Amino acid sequence: MSEDRYLTFALGKGRLADKTLALLEQIGITCEEMRDKKSRKLIFVNEEKKLKFFLSKGPDVPTYVEYGAADIGVVGKDTILEENRRAYEVLDLGFGQCRMCVCGPAPARELLLHHERIRVATKYPVIAKDYFYNKKHQTVDIIKLNGSVELGPIVGLSDVIVDIVETGSTLKENGLEVLEEICPLSARMIVNQVSMQMETERIRSLIFQLKQLRETSQ
Ligand code: PRP
Repeated sequence: MSEDRYLTFALGKGRLADKTLALLEQIGITCEEMRDKKSRKLIFVNEEKKLKFFLSKGPDVPTYVEYGAADIGVVGKDTILEENRRAYEVLDLGFGQCRMCVCGPAPARELLLHHERIRVATKYPVIAKDYFYNKKHQTVDIIKLNGSVELGPIVGLSDVIVDIVETGSTLKENGLEVLEEICPLSARMIVNQVSMQMETERIRSLIFQLKQLRETSQ
């Protein structure tokens, strides 16, 4: 559609946003304003290319994209699964690779084998519920935590946890291990369903360039 319309990107704050901006830079999309780390500004504009970028909390990215406040979002697959918003997932950006796993102390493995009613602590209750109820057909009690989930089994709050494992060092340092793997995770690009129709050309071209970049850097 018209080049006058801004394409708006919602980026999850932190490492994911930094990596996304570095990737966009490689295909000639830059945003000088965003380089100033001290800035408290929330929205940044590239006038020349008619692009806008804003940073938000990761779990809010799919919300902005579903409602069309952002045309495009970049967020972890964990957040996409947990938030379960309407949007097209168009590209695996290849960074931020990790795994969603059921973890716990080694003896907890038995509890998973025998489908016992166990307590599961997690920051991801939707993913945990789907895994235990729909895939394993195991009834469990899910306890929502907001971080440092590894504490769950250590302090006796839960039998196991469902959490992200990247290097595995948090588990190791706390005497826990991966008991079952739920799914692989990485950063994904998501697109608003209407924007995909209205701005097909610009969005397709962006996806194409990012795909090419990924292929040449593999
Ligand atoms: C994440 C995750 C694990 C840890 C895994 O936590 O929840 O705790 O990283 O990484 P590792 O396998 O490389 O050790 P995060 O640092 O995001 O903080 P949180 O525990 O407060 O969620």
